[in-house]
Amino acid sequence: MVKICCIGAGYVGGPTMAIIAYKCPDIEVVVVDISLPRIAAWNSEQLPIYEPGLDGVVKQCRGKNLFFSTDVEKHVCEADIVFVSVNTPTKTRGLGAGKAADLTYWESAARMIADVSKSSKIVVEKSTVPVKTAEAIEKILTHNSKGIKFQILSNPEFLAEGTAIQDLLNPDRVLIGGRETPEGQEAIKALKDVYAHWVPEEQILTTNLWSAELSKLAANAFLAQRISSVNAMSALCEATGADVTQVAYAVGKDSRIGPKFLNASVGFGGSCFQKDILNLVYICECNGLPEVAEYWKQVIRINDYQKNRFVNRMVSSMFNTISNKKIAILGFAFKKDTGDTRETPAIDVCKGLLGDKARLSIYDPQVTEDQIQRDLSMKKFDWDHPLHLQPMSPTTVKQVAVVWDAYEATKDAHGLCILTEWDEFKTLDYKRIYDNMQKPAFVFDGRNVVNGDELRNIGFIVYSIGKPL
Ligand code: NAD
Ligand code: UGA
Repeated sequence: MVKICCIGAGYVGGPTMAIIAYKCPDIEVVVVDISLPRIAAWNSEQLPIYEPGLDGVVKQCRGKNLFFSTDVEKHVCEADIVFVSVNTPTKTRGLGAGKAADLTYWESAARMIADVSKSSKIVVEKSTVPVKTAEAIEKILTHNSKGIKFQILSNPEFLAEGTAIQDLLNPDRVLIGGRETPEGQEAIKALKDVYAHWVPEEQILTTNLWSAELSKLAANAFLAQRISSVNAMSALCEATGADVTQVAYAVGKDSRIGPKFLNASVGFGGSCFQKDILNLVYICECNGLPEVAEYWKQVIRINDYQKNRFVNRMVSSMFNTISNKKIAILGFAFKKDTGDTRETPAIDVCKGLLGDKARLSIYDPQVTEDQIQRDLSMKKFDWDHPLHLQPMSPTTVKQVAVVWDAYEATKDAHGLCILTEWDEFKTLDYKRIYDNMQKPAFVFDGRNVVNGDELRNIGFIVYSIGKPL
């Protein structure tokens, strides 16, 4: 039986390994992590992450060929293939701070693999890493290898949160990069055989190591750039009377452009787009390509501009003062169908409103009060370090109340602000909400989920992204 061990039981390691176990009954999969609470949660009824379809898959395989453990060294030692899916945050200090990827967690995993291994292994980069990371990892592994052979592969993950299970079951492609040597090709084949249990062969792409590493950064940069492009257009739409939904539809009808990923919003969030683009920018700068770095930096600048623009619009619409006004925030997760708040635009918007002394009443169906309080009191980039995965008592932001119902959040509020596109926000009883709000009652729709005209008929003043007022 082939044995797989995955270091890192997070949003990628957990679901990815669950699907491998589900599709490959002949493979034993152990997911290991240094975080005791995370592993305990994976072994409990309440999984540590909310992802549609994940529960069923985990419960079907757990204890059969899928295991979660904190005994990292034992399972790495026994494995034939070791995936490394640890976090690769943005550096917060030192050389490249605020841009470069912090490979501390990756390096410590690689050193541990080198130390505990007693047999040859394939080591798979699952985390998103800077191009050429495999070269550094190879040096660490071979330096300590005691004659043991390691083959490094790059196998970046393209799943999106909220649709992770579907993305893993039906991936657009699986990408495997390896050395162009007979041993490298053999390792590629071994990993290909794992995915071939359910992914059609023509969708498994193989490349050299550097192309695979760079393709992941490039894919995220292209995706984020589409959002910044449509968000830039949304500002122009508001200035001219065009409607960004109509513009995006017309543009996306061109088969060369395509209709997906053109929804204007308050800005993109999530743990990766910003981090990976900053990383790309840093790599360009280090390679003497400042113009290329500037080009990609602009994607982030537009995203920040969009979040600021939204806050400014709220404050200016509400007569230039929101001091002590109650504002209901509907949705805090960075997108629907996840409880993940990493880099959610809601953090920046809420901090902007708090800066103007508003009182916030926040409702999200999947995000806990602890998490929201922690996010609003934490420094930028600090969230992606394992310390913060442990429960801790956060500083409470006093002007913030977290409630478990949209009606409670909006009661007596001056303004209502939608920051995540949860389906339930489309079907709320907006007449009831209007009746219980202060007047004039404002709606600021950061995700274009409500029908502005219907809400105006009720009596609301409505601002939607990129749409005529
Ligand atoms: P995560 O923070 O949810 O999980 C990482 C886990 O690694 C944590 O539980 C942490 O405790 C553990 N860890 C860190 N150092 C360790 C060590 N030395 N030994 C054992 N465990 C260790 O992160 P994630 O969202 O799963 O992302 C992981 C990587 O995958 C990142 O590089 C990210 O860019 C990439 N990625 C993420 C997504 C996504 O949707 N979240 C998608 C594609 C790629
Ligand atoms: C993204 C990519 O889609 C995945 O392919 C990639 O594997 C992953 O990053 C990663 O490397 O972490 P994810 O961040 O989970 O996945 O979710 P997305 O669906 O891409 O959404 C990202 C952000 O963009 C969200 O805040 C979302 O609301 C926003 N978005 C998305 C828009 O504002 N408009 C759109 O049209 C699409």
